[in-house]
Amino acid sequence: MQAVILVGGEGTRLRPLTYGTPKPMVPLFGVPFLERTLSRLKSAGVDHVILAAGYLPDAITRHLGDGARLGLKLTYVIEKEPLGTAGAIKNVEQYISGPFFVLNGDVLTSLDLRKMIEVHEKRGGLGVLHSIRVEDPSAFGCVVRDETGRVKSFIEKPPRETAPTDEINAGTYLLDPAVLEAIPKDTNVSIERATFPKLLAEGKALYAYLSDDYWLDVGRPDQYLKAHRDVLDRQLALDPLADPEMHRGAFIFAGAIGAPSNIEPPVFIGENVEIAPNAMVGPYTVLGDGTRIGPNVVVRGSVLWDGVHIEEGAHVTDVILASRVRVGKLAQVGAGTVAGHDQHVEPGTVVAPDSRLPATQAEQAAVAPT
Ligand code: GDD
Ligand code: MG
Repeated sequence: MQAVILVGGEGTRLRPLTYGTPKPMVPLFGVPFLERTLSRLKSAGVDHVILAAGYLPDAITRHLGDGARLGLKLTYVIEKEPLGTAGAIKNVEQYISGPFFVLNGDVLTSLDLRKMIEVHEKRGGLGVLHSIRVEDPSAFGCVVRDETGRVKSFIEKPPRETAPTDEINAGTYLLDPAVLEAIPKDTNVSIERATFPKLLAEGKALYAYLSDDYWLDVGRPDQYLKAHRDVLDRQLALDPLADPEMHRGAFIFAGAIGAPSNIEPPVFIGENVEIAPNAMVGPYTVLGDGTRIGPNVVVRGSVLWDGVHIEEGAHVTDVILASRVRVGKLAQVGAGTVAGHDQHVEPGTVVAPDSRLPATQAEQAAVAPT
């Protein structure tokens, strides 16, 4: 079985994290998000994954190589210009040899992909779309279906008041290769705005598989933080302890038992982390490998990547700090702040809530549109 993962987006909503790291390589408990998706595909019987990439592809190929480490065959297809979600699928056509999965690269879900195969075998048609219910469908593709699951219409990101349903496109499809015939070559095409509506207008059959699985698009900072919180709360079975990748010397404090007095669980701590005895870390905090937390520091509700250093007396709450960020003595970093790689917060600074502290200028220049 084959799967295409769409990993070519620029991850603009996750900037400045995505200046230096493409969205699929953004870590979830120290492991690139994409690697977690690949493991899920592998356990559902997928053996060949085609990565439709474009933005910072080298970071992906360098880390995953030919996929042998994960027991998968990986093929990379790099777009020179973004081809859109359908254009990117058309662009990998030569590798497709039967019904195939397509996954948005930024979705964290407990969906059992085998259920999609069952629906496809039972219903036939050109494809199955995973859908879930959300409170506000306006940020997603709305999937209107009848009682048999057949999709009646697909409306991408409608204004909230006009949304026809609360059932949305969850970003996993099982498609018949015939869908490729509906997509023009070498053209930027959106599967949500063009291909699905076109197929439906032609009377082609697509089916929705509505499930109540855990589901989250991690493409925004608040959702990225929520993903970590939900895993620490064990809302989905991405149990850091059960996952061997995760076990590499890292540990998690799920409850008060065994946690030192400077840790308030649940907290995940990477390798070679130093925490001063009178610091306070947690709850809902993730410390990447090599993090150093100084005396009298308070860190709450935050995700810190590798090599972050928080100096004496600084306070950080509900923030994301990319690799090697340094927060100076007595600085305070407000909730919702996201700091890019190597950012330094000067001692004593008060950073307003929801700030975006850019990555280094060199990194920004490397990706800034000319
Ligand atoms: N290869 C490639 N080329 N990939 C792309 C391109 C492109 O030009 N544009 C976007 N992608 C990838 C992104 O990297 C991401 O993994 C996926 O396609 C979806 O793009 P997003 O930018 O994250 O879309 P969205 O979150 O606004 O909306 C999509 O996901 C929702 C669910 O999270 C749509 O599919 C919605 O219908 C859906 O509800
Ligand atoms: Mg998204």
